[in-house]
Amino acid sequence: MRRQIIFALLLSLLAITPVSAQKGKGTFEAGKGTFLLNGKPFVVKAAEVHYPRIPQPYWEHRIKMCKALGMNTICIYVFWNIHEQKEGEFDFTGNNDVAQFCRLAQKNGMYVIVRPGPYVCAEWEMGGLPWWLLKKKDIRLREQDPYFMERVKIFEEKVGEQLAPLTIQNGGPIIMVQVENEYGSYGEDKPYVSAIRDCLRGIYGKELALFQCDWSSNFEKNGLDDLVWTMNFGTGANIDQQFRRLGQLRPDAPKMCSEFWSGWFDKWGARHETRPAKDMVDGMDEMLSKGISFSLYMTHGGTSFGHWAGANSPGFAPDVTSYDYDAPINEYGQATPKFWELRKMMEKYNDGKKMPTVPKAPMPIITVPKFELKEFAPFMAAMTKPVNGAPKTFEEMGMGWGAMMYSTRLPEIASQSVLTGEFHDFAQVFIDKKYIGKIDRVKNEKSLTIPAVKKGAELIIIVEGMGRINFGRAIKDFKGIVGNVTLTTETDDVEMVMTLKNWMNVAIPDDYETAAKALDMVKGVNDQIAAGKVKGSVPALAFTQGYEGSKKLSDIMKPGYHRGYFNLSKVGDTFLNFETWGKGQVYVNGHALGRIWSIGPQQTLYVPGCWLKKGKNEVIVLDVVGPKEAVVWGQDKPELNKLQLEKSNKHNNIGDKPDLNSDTPAAQGQFNGGNGWQTVKFSSPKKGRLLCLEALSTQAGDDVVAIAEIYALGSDGKRLSREPWTTKYADSENENGNHTGDKVYDLQESTYWQTVKGAGFPHLLVIDLGSEQTVTGFEYLPRAEQGAPGSVKNYKIFIK
Ligand code: GLA
Ligand code: CA
Repeated sequence: MRRQIIFALLLSLLAITPVSAQKGKGTFEAGKGTFLLNGKPFVVKAAEVHYPRIPQPYWEHRIKMCKALGMNTICIYVFWNIHEQKEGEFDFTGNNDVAQFCRLAQKNGMYVIVRPGPYVCAEWEMGGLPWWLLKKKDIRLREQDPYFMERVKIFEEKVGEQLAPLTIQNGGPIIMVQVENEYGSYGEDKPYVSAIRDCLRGIYGKELALFQCDWSSNFEKNGLDDLVWTMNFGTGANIDQQFRRLGQLRPDAPKMCSEFWSGWFDKWGARHETRPAKDMVDGMDEMLSKGISFSLYMTHGGTSFGHWAGANSPGFAPDVTSYDYDAPINEYGQATPKFWELRKMMEKYNDGKKMPTVPKAPMPIITVPKFELKEFAPFMAAMTKPVNGAPKTFEEMGMGWGAMMYSTRLPEIASQSVLTGEFHDFAQVFIDKKYIGKIDRVKNEKSLTIPAVKKGAELIIIVEGMGRINFGRAIKDFKGIVGNVTLTTETDDVEMVMTLKNWMNVAIPDDYETAAKALDMVKGVNDQIAAGKVKGSVPALAFTQGYEGSKKLSDIMKPGYHRGYFNLSKVGDTFLNFETWGKGQVYVNGHALGRIWSIGPQQTLYVPGCWLKKGKNEVIVLDVVGPKEAVVWGQDKPELNKLQLEKSNKHNNIGDKPDLNSDTPAAQGQFNGGNGWQTVKFSSPKKGRLLCLEALSTQAGDDVVAIAEIYALGSDGKRLSREPWTTKYADSENENGNHTGDKVYDLQESTYWQTVKGAGFPHLLVIDLGSEQTVTGFEYLPRAEQGAPGSVKNYKIFIK
């Protein structure tokens, strides 16, 4: 009896005390229509932040910023590849001390949701998987490949050593752990997902809640009976529609949007992405009013420092260094207008209590006057031992990141020829030390025309690797030259293809030590020359001229390592501007800041003040292209939206528009209004390489058309692979919001092609399927927002 009274008293106490992560054992589980925290209804208001994207000294500040938004939970991924950079060597210290991060969250009264992968996506190199898995060439990633599963188990156990003591059942802050990540966007494999579940259950115990996240359109594919199911969708989405199917299948289940996308990530060569604050806040307000839990992805995105930014596919779309994400807390930890709007709304759901205070930034923002990077060392100064034979991938050379120099001798070729291969990701071609051109995977390039050459001419190809693909089936993304390189010549209409042999493969690893060593060595030689200690021709002297040798070329580009210094009397956060540079990597005081690329949209790199010091600070730039001017300065604001493209991203070249006038459509008719997928089957199969979709009107009667995704169905009625797809033509594209034609096959239901207001009907989108295909129908997805804005009414489709 007394026990019962105490229990009841405790419960009522719990109801009035602020719900925050207190020390002491507890429970968290899915109840009827709601989550239950220590037996009481609980709405998860989670803020997604990634500890490796924040310098450790700033962790607590960022957690406090999330708390000031009225959040009660922090949601994190665990990135396998940052903890096990070399097979079998684990690091959970410093910036990798994930347990310490969770303890800091708890200290600040926050619960924690952990998403330990093994795959995480997250616009992170290879979706969090370690590159060295690819040393086993035929590995099946995210499947029950014995080696993959063996390494997953070892990794998860190591993470468990850190985090299992911190579950709520053990008195820690961790209330839930996620199993895999959006597996529905990868495949259908319940046995694999079950194996990951069993592995995690074995580590964290039966009592801890486990969940899986997916999209409302595909969560059933791998949904396991004994896991909590949550949905991912973005700002603006029609929320009832997103939970409709879950409600039918599990009417009593709590609802949670495990990734509510506050903004979006940026890729090189396209505009900075933003999403309206109002749409985000309204969506969260709606969810809270309905008792729906959420995690706001990202609440604070931070930075993908070093080489950790990933890339998207189909195609190859590497992500920029900043992971600002247009999140309420910006890349450098400050409150944005979105933050204040959100905070105001969240106050309504704070049980009438005062909102936690917004913490002061740990550092001021400073500027740095322009300075020059005067020291230089060419790539050659950093070369490792060559390996001869066929072209090797980075992985075959045992190298994760960086660049490789491939060289061979050519036979005599009297006329122009075409050099062809798979170059991952950015290749520059030199003949007899003269720059010929580049082959850029981002632009889907695979070949380059080269001039006539004499026998024995030296061909050098420098291939720089960018982030490995983090989404879809293409995550098995080898770097360097993949496969053979051929030369195709044409004489008297006869085509001859020869495979180039006898290569010298030289790895140029991307790390601070390599860069500093190369610069020190060249500086040493130069100092000796200056001191008159060395006279005449010094072999090492050639280094200082760059391997391109010729004076003319060295005037316009100096690919290699550049070093300079700046002095500070006061330390603070700053944004170093690299808009005069080519492409590469930056290190400040030994910290890898991230990638730069002149094409933008990102032109500055965030430098956390905690990595700077009073007095002399060092900057090293590894520029694989070479700068126009080797100068840098620090500004007090980031530049995340300045494109310097050779050519616009639009696909409106009228010469690319197919003439459809005398063609019979494969199908024509009317789509239904509203959200969700629609399928159209052709009356008979059609053969062709171009899929041409003509939109003649919209459901709303206006002239702006938007389409989120399109699939073509093959002769077996199944979806054709969209890997080889490119956009051939679009009459109108809203480039400002990145609503270009390629968005209809980027695998993302929240991104879309959209025409510009006033462009006039009919609208035409032409997709090149890569080769001739038999098409029997297609699937169409309008925008995910309420009322499906821009949804098409009358359409015609042609296969040509
Ligand atoms: C998915 C993934 C996340 C992230 C977002 C886009 O939801 O689960 O890791 O990649 O897309 O930012
Ligand atoms: Ca899309």
